[in-house]
Amino acid sequence: MRVAVTGGLGRIGRAVVAELAGQGFETVQVDVAPMRGQSPGYRRADLRELWQAVDALDGVNAVVHLAATGVPDSHTLHPELAEGATYAANSTSTYNVFQAAAVHGVRRVVWASSETVLGPPFRVGGPAQLPLDESHPVRPETSYALSKATGEAIADHFAHRCAMTSVALRFSVVMDQAEYAALPAYWAEPERGRWNLWSYVDLADVAVSCRLALTADLVGATALTVAAPDTLSDRPTAELLDTYFRGVRVTRPLGDFEALQCSAKAEELLGRRPSHSWRDSAR
Ligand SMILES: NC(=O)c1ccc[n+]([C@@H]2O[C@H](COP(=O)([O-])OP(=O)(O)OC[C@H]3O[C@@H](n4cnc5c(N)ncnc54)[C@H](O)[C@@H]3O)[C@@H](O)[C@H]2O)c1
Repeated sequence: MRVAVTGGLGRIGRAVVAELAGQGFETVQVDVAPMRGQSPGYRRADLRELWQAVDALDGVNAVVHLAATGVPDSHTLHPELAEGATYAANSTSTYNVFQAAAVHGVRRVVWASSETVLGPPFRVGGPAQLPLDESHPVRPETSYALSKATGEAIADHFAHRCAMTSVALRFSVVMDQAEYAALPAYWAEPERGRWNLWSYVDLADVAVSCRLALTADLVGATALTVAAPDTLSDRPTAELLDTYFRGVRVTRPLGDFEALQCSAKAEELLGRRPSHSWRDSAR
């Protein structure tokens, strides 16, 4: 199978390309960034332009769409301009990738949505229930999150319009071994993790979830939470709930350090849920 990986030069993109190559897939890295050196598997394209997306997906059988801009809205001098630019870039690129896939008769698109579609950073309101899973209402609070929610609507549209199968992977914050070393500073300020329920997902699990979603037995547009099985916190989950989310309905008993984002549906539909934990590397 020949798979186009958009954002293929990015952090997750490189991991996905390595994972797919290791499992015998042929990959095409599509990215607006220039690639150093020669690579027959690289195609430069700005996916905000439909014709470039159509050219980039020529001859592929499936797409892993990761290209996006993730400028946090509050981290710029002109947040209102950055908000508009983030929304426009991501929603347009996602539309163009789905449309280009339809033009070429590609039947499967796996793509990076985000945990933020369900409410993080919870500045406007709290979660309706915990743990967060696919039964929670979609409540984007930032233009980035809105662009991902729009992407999910685009995926539904293409499923309806041309029977395209797609999997939106709602990744939590992606981390790897090197970043786990910084956790003691994070533990010193437990409120820092409130915005996304102290959640994360290991880069290796992210890459595997993309591969599994390419061949999972699915039809239509599916959205899945993809988060690690535990929190990043050194405090028990019950203590975090009691301190920061008292009064929020908890739908089932939770383990000592169990995550507040639940990937059970990913396990059911992809055959595997994220299993890497920072606790394993700490041991
Ligand atoms: N990193 C995380 O913690 C995280 C969490 C949830 C979701 N996601 C999503 O996962 C995806 C990949 O994230 P990442 O961390 O690898 O980001 P990244 O910034 O490392 O990589 C993104 C890549 O997309 C490319 N790109 C951006 N705009 C483009 C365009 N218009 N046309 C073509 N290429 C373009 C960039 O050049 C870059 O190489 C994104 O969609 C992101 O929103 C990431």
